[in-house]
Amino acid sequence: MRSFGSTLAVDNVSFQVYRGELFAFLGPNGAGKTTTINLLTGLLHPDRGEIRYRGERFNPDLLAVKQLIGVVPQHNNLDKELSVAENLRIHGILFGLRGRQLEERIRFCLEFADLLEKSATAAGKLSGGMKRKLVIARALLHQPKILFLDEPTVGLDPHSRRRMWAFLRRINVEQQCTVFLTTHYIEEAESLAQRVMIMDNAKIIAAGSPDELKSCGGDYVLDIYRGTDLDSEFFADRDAALRRLKQLDTVVRIRETTLEDVFLQLTGKRIAGGKGDV
Ligand SMILES: Nc1ncnc2c1ncn2[C@@H]1O[C@H](COP(=O)(O)OP(=O)(O)OP(=O)(O)O)[C@@H](O)[C@H]1O
Ligand SMILES: [Mg+2]
Repeated sequence: MRSFGSTLAVDNVSFQVYRGELFAFLGPNGAGKTTTINLLTGLLHPDRGEIRYRGERFNPDLLAVKQLIGVVPQHNNLDKELSVAENLRIHGILFGLRGRQLEERIRFCLEFADLLEKSATAAGKLSGGMKRKLVIARALLHQPKILFLDEPTVGLDPHSRRRMWAFLRRINVEQQCTVFLTTHYIEEAESLAQRVMIMDNAKIIAAGSPDELKSCGGDYVLDIYRGTDLDSEFFADRDAALRRLKQLDTVVRIRETTLEDVFLQLTGKRIAGGKGDV
């Protein structure tokens, strides 16, 4: 649990992330996602409750514990004046890496993130997508076992976003790193994550695989257009949806339920960046 003055940002939240999974954490603006990540990574202390890694109580003051975790914050916090390689070098030194081992890790991470050619460029001169990748490369430098990414794909064009998805999958599989990410792009969670958790108003309101969450409300949807209004109705199967469709004499679209439908139903809101924001 964590409050800021009278604002309860994280309320009685309890969940587990399993080793090796790619886990997506969703929720409307202000739901408490970043605060939860800050608690999980030691940037904030909980008012009540505890965090455990591999069964041990989390003590962020211990370097050995901090080394388990990599963090990609919501806002890039690179040193813009320093080169790409220097940004990594400073991080490596803070995490206890030195000499040849440090230089090898810098080279590996730059290659892995496809940034080797930019190694001498000032971080401030990279494109938005490259900056995001550099922050991720930096978080990987000390070989964390779990990587927290707070909105890793915000501001990326659709091509860069898909390249980032592939990059995150490689981190998960090739680097054998558990990945915990937040996103407002629901199709991103649907495409990437084995498990999804939704937070709203400081509480966890749903968790499960994308398929489990989708089947809760019904597998088929009718989008019913009435003038400028759009109503969506959910049905357990296609036949039930078709029976209803025959009763309607307006413009109707039949489709399969998406994770975004589930999100909208549960949170009662349209999400920023999604289809049809309000
Ligand atoms: N340092 C702070 N001081 C005061 N209030 C804060 C602070 N950090 C967060 N809050 C409040 O806590 C609540 C949760 O904020 P948080 O940043 O965790 O949300 P979020 O889910 O990450 O939202 P977004 O999707 O917009 O990034 C909000 O009401 C926010 O105003
Ligand atoms: Mg946030």
